[in-house]
Amino acid sequence: MSLALSGRDLLSVADLGRDEIDAVLDLAVRAKQGGDLGTPLRGLNMALIFQRPSNRTRVSFEVAINRLGGHPIALFGDEIRLGERETASDIARILDRYADGVIARLVSQRDLVAIAAAVRGPVISAMTDAEHPCQLLADLMTVREVTGRIAGARVVYIGDGNNVCTSWLYAAAICGVDLRIVSPPGYEPQESVLDRAARLRSNGTGFSVGHDPAPALRDAEIVYTDVWTSMGQEAEQQRRREDFGHLQVNERLLALAPPGARVMHCLPAHRGEEITDSVLDSARSVVFDQAENRLWAQMALLALVFDGVAERNPLPLEASS
Ligand code: CP
Ligand code: NVA
Repeated sequence: MSLALSGRDLLSVADLGRDEIDAVLDLAVRAKQGGDLGTPLRGLNMALIFQRPSNRTRVSFEVAINRLGGHPIALFGDEIRLGERETASDIARILDRYADGVIARLVSQRDLVAIAAAVRGPVISAMTDAEHPCQLLADLMTVREVTGRIAGARVVYIGDGNNVCTSWLYAAAICGVDLRIVSPPGYEPQESVLDRAARLRSNGTGFSVGHDPAPALRDAEIVYTDVWTSMGQEAEQQRRREDFGHLQVNERLLALAPPGARVMHCLPAHRGEEITDSVLDSARSVVFDQAENRLWAQMALLALVFDGVAERNPLPLEASS
């Protein structure tokens, strides 16, 4: 196994190099094909923090940890009340004494960085308002399954320049995906994100940002969307419905793409808003394979990140006596 990821944090897709992404995806495919990844997490306790709701992320991480021999401990926002009952840093200093790693879904990326600074073991993002790196590992795995490649794959992201879109931008820049983002005016990715993605870009391919879906979709292989109203933005839902309405992924919009184009969505979907039932449930949709790939991609990630960690780091209590 590759030692390059061993002991590392994953707070952003930008923390990964192309070779590391390839190593995760290759191992994920092996796991999906029935390969045995062993029990690299044997004896390890993993703290999972969920400050926002989750289905896929929590269950796929818990199952992945169990399958790799580890033990997950899930903590929810209303019990730890991060920033209210205790600071992110104090929570992290405590978890560091008990657990071997932390996986956290937080509102703020700054809190995630604070946790990573206070925890000696690996810290993995389970999504913040800034990014969703583990989603992208599963997404890239799915793109490879559908198109046979990642570099040069033509992916159209239709919707909000949000956390998932940001992780897509970094992944596209690192891996050479031909990513076209189509957002309503005012909802494009932030300039700072576009600048960072531009710096990550290693060759000519990369990304474009526009408002018109037609040219972007003409030779698309993947049509990707996410909710118009992310968790925490509920007060803006009505305005967002109006601003994004023309970009609903429905049969009319999909007709602008080649017949072989496949549809992806990180889920949960707001059916009837950003995507219709007829598209989400069609043969062109790969959303449930994509969701399944969360499990394989995260199993591979955990196996690589925790490879050798149990041997190198004695239990935290012994280490800090
Ligand atoms: N895609 C995703 O992260 O789903 P959950 O919010 O259900 O974890
Ligand atoms: N953009 C969505 C993704 C959910 C997986 C959100 O942040 O709610």
